[in-house]
Amino acid sequence: MSREEQLKTEGQPVLKPEKGGAEGVKAAGCKGAGRPGEETAGERSARAERLKRRYGRAVSPKGGPGPMGPGRHGPGGPGRQRAMAKGTPKNSRATVKRLLAYLNEDKAKMGLAFFCVIVNTAASLAGSYMLRPIINRYIVPVDGSRGDAAGLARALMVMALVYLAGVLANYAQAKVMLTVAQSALLKIRNDLFTKMQTLPVRFYDTNNNGDLMSRFTNDVDTVGQMLSNTLVQLFSGALSIIGTLGLMLYTNVYLTVITVVMVPVMMKAGGAVARRSQKYFGAQQTSLGAVNGYVEETVTGQKVVKVFCHEDIAREEFAILNRDLRDNQIRAQFFGGIMGPVMGNLSQINYSLTACIGGILCIWKNFDVGGLTVFLNFSRQFSRPINEISMQVSNVFSALAGAERVFAVMDEAPEQADDRDAVTLTPMEGHVVLDRVSFGYDPDKVILKDISLYAKPGQKIAFVGSTGAGKTTITNLLNRFYDIQAGSITIDGVDIRHLSRENLRKNIAMVLQDTHLFTGSVRENIRYGRLDATDEEVVQAAKTASAHSFIMRLPKGYDTMLEGDGANLSQGQRQLLNIARAAVSKAPILILDEATSSVDTRTEKHIEHGMDRLMANRTTFVIAHRLSTVRNANAIMVLEHGEIMERGDHEELLEMKGRYYELYTGVKELD
Ligand SMILES: Nc1ncnc2c1ncn2[C@@H]1O[C@H](COP(=O)(O)OP(=O)(O)O)[C@@H](O)[C@H]1O
Ligand SMILES: [Mg+2]
Repeated sequence: MSREEQLKTEGQPVLKPEKGGAEGVKAAGCKGAGRPGEETAGERSARAERLKRRYGRAVSPKGGPGPMGPGRHGPGGPGRQRAMAKGTPKNSRATVKRLLAYLNEDKAKMGLAFFCVIVNTAASLAGSYMLRPIINRYIVPVDGSRGDAAGLARALMVMALVYLAGVLANYAQAKVMLTVAQSALLKIRNDLFTKMQTLPVRFYDTNNNGDLMSRFTNDVDTVGQMLSNTLVQLFSGALSIIGTLGLMLYTNVYLTVITVVMVPVMMKAGGAVARRSQKYFGAQQTSLGAVNGYVEETVTGQKVVKVFCHEDIAREEFAILNRDLRDNQIRAQFFGGIMGPVMGNLSQINYSLTACIGGILCIWKNFDVGGLTVFLNFSRQFSRPINEISMQVSNVFSALAGAERVFAVMDEAPEQADDRDAVTLTPMEGHVVLDRVSFGYDPDKVILKDISLYAKPGQKIAFVGSTGAGKTTITNLLNRFYDIQAGSITIDGVDIRHLSRENLRKNIAMVLQDTHLFTGSVRENIRYGRLDATDEEVVQAAKTASAHSFIMRLPKGYDTMLEGDGANLSQGQRQLLNIARAAVSKAPILILDEATSSVDTRTEKHIEHGMDRLMANRTTFVIAHRLSTVRNANAIMVLEHGEIMERGDHEELLEMKGRYYELYTGVKELD
């Protein structure tokens, strides 16, 4: 069972209905799996909430350290710290500052873009205003004479040129802003990915993959949207408002008053709608995250879902999350959507009022028709930037929320830095000593107790014991995926906490219990163990792992491309490639965690020879279920519940007639 599956079945009964009882039993067989009775609306919404909480997880591992303590992210408190980096931004000012820092390098370009915005706005204002002299002079001259067609044509040419300048400026602006935004995104993605490489294993063990990946895609995208469009629109909107207002005042003060009175009304209405839409927007994002997380999990676990006939339950749970997403999306987008019509109607009222009163002013107060025409245009245009700005507000919020989710990952505590005086052992010989080591993933829950052992270079130490005894955990400690809580681990006399991590890990070759292959050729996958290995060495390593013969049978031999974690290989073949990868490395310490568990006994026998060669002159830790493979170990540790119960070589342990004897002779089943 892989670590992931183990966690799921032990820690979080993912696909099992939570209430347990009869439903838990049902889940075991196909008949009647799913369809848990009729639910009341209340029960259903409670279930939806539970599912959402589970799948829409926040970044920070529970109780994990990291600078984003409960204080900064609102009502975290002593309880669960999940689902808080979602939805609306919690600290907009800091987030904005951080985003701006990404734009810093492109200040000049930004300046150019904003200059273009100014040109564009000025051109459109000027173009609109030019209508006044055109009407007054060439169409309905104020002095009562006939219109002047030639003059009109000339004036229209000028007007066209002005508008053309505006269009060009707009085009330039869009192009420049796009490059600025995309280079900022490039940096953000780089920073995020770089950060992810520094995060400790604990982070990945406690976070939802789908959620992390959506930060890379969705969240970064929304930020990009904001950088390339929203910022500019806000700026040009503000400019238009100011410019239009100025020109309106210049054209007619009385009419301006009408518009100015109408604006607060419009703002108020817009604000109310925006607030609502913001609130629902957060909910929508959480639901979206939950749906993504659920889909990701069922896609990756599709075989398990099918094997246990959980399709019905999965469908049902998905339907719940899906409905929840629909509801939240309707709410969020309804309020986003009614913004336009609400503002539009108010602006129509404004328009009609202005037209009536303007007409009266023309008749009684000698107000020029050209003036009235441009004013009507302005008063209509006036609501557009206000409209736009208020619509952009929700984009800004979602982008800031997205940025916060991205920054939250960036703020996660990285793997603790090496000591300043960290030592580098070259060459490392491989004297490994564990002295009274105790450890728990959760400090309160001890997994390993008082483990002491000594391994000399060239020795083979084996761990046997039932599943969950803590065998893999010991390997996690040797390469410092996790740090121990008590005792010490030393290599060549140096505490591994004083070794540089790179030095430590370079000197430990490991075949993990969960195999992993990267997209690439077989050769590249083996060479992953040591990048400067020659082709000859790669083949040699494959031979050592008994992988050579099956590789040669692949369509393109060593150049066969592996995709999707080696989906085109059998599990056993994947393991052999993982062994070859370890074999190509020259590390003095070798860890094999159930490395041959999926390989048939005949192949395993066949490998034995190669394995002996692999282990020669290295300190080797072997974990194996098949006791036949550990017989020749220098020392065998029998691990139960995190403690070493028995130790000795094969003969000694058999003589002891204890636990090992039971395991070996099969007197008692593993429990
Ligand atoms: N990443 C983890 N976080 C919390 N608990 C874990 C983690 N990995 C393993 N455990 C727990 O530690 C115990 C030992 O697991 P492990 O060392 O993987 O056992 P095994 O002997 O089968 O390799 C198990 O009870 C398991 O639930
Ligand atoms: Mg294990």
